[in-house]
Amino acid sequence: MTQNSIFIVLDGIDGSGTTTHSSLLKGFLETREFKVYLTQEPSNSEIGLLLRKYLKNKGIPPITDALLFAADRSLHYHKEIKEKLDQGFIVISDRYIESSIIYQSLQSDLISIKWVKNINKFVGIPDLTIILDIDPKIALARKTQQELEKFEDTPFLDKVRALYLKRAKKESYFVVNSNEIIEFVQDKIQKIVLQKLKE
Ligand code: TYD
Repeated sequence: MTQNSIFIVLDGIDGSGTTTHSSLLKGFLETREFKVYLTQEPSNSEIGLLLRKYLKNKGIPPITDALLFAADRSLHYHKEIKEKLDQGFIVISDRYIESSIIYQSLQSDLISIKWVKNINKFVGIPDLTIILDIDPKIALARKTQQELEKFEDTPFLDKVRALYLKRAKKESYFVVNSNEIIEFVQDKIQKIVLQKLKE
């Protein structure tokens, strides 16, 4: 791995802006001459595509979701992320393990955080995780009723948000308030990343 090949993850509740900010961050780092690889979870693999389909289906058992997200991540890390890091890229992933820890553990009483960590223990840990925090009511107001996927309802996302904040404190992740205007939020993210790159 070269010096600049760090692994960055942007995570947060649905509608918190992880996709927009991952893409803006990529553009910013490229203007600074860094080689950047942007990716997301669910990934573009066949498992990832299946997961996207399952996001429209409330009948899928939560254990199935958890195992498939872990399988998708294992493939994604070993066949994509690690290879890019080895080639000297900064890798930005829009969502990663924290999404599984939070969404899957809240989906069912049968699913503990410990078990989710266990089935995800064979992949690399990010060098930097930034959590985008937003009020679910504001986040969901941007979507139409037809667009909504199975996790996108306010009471569930209130729990998701609370667990993200609790875990961020425990794991010392950076939390950025995403209720603010995009440029302001992106500026905060860029400062955190540049500081990390200096270390
Ligand atoms: P999302 O970023 O909302 O995709 P899009 O912006 O294209 O709609 O992510 C899809 C959903 O998948 C989101 O509700 C969170 C969920 N998810 C999990 O439940 N577990 C996971 O491990 C991952 C990566 C995502």
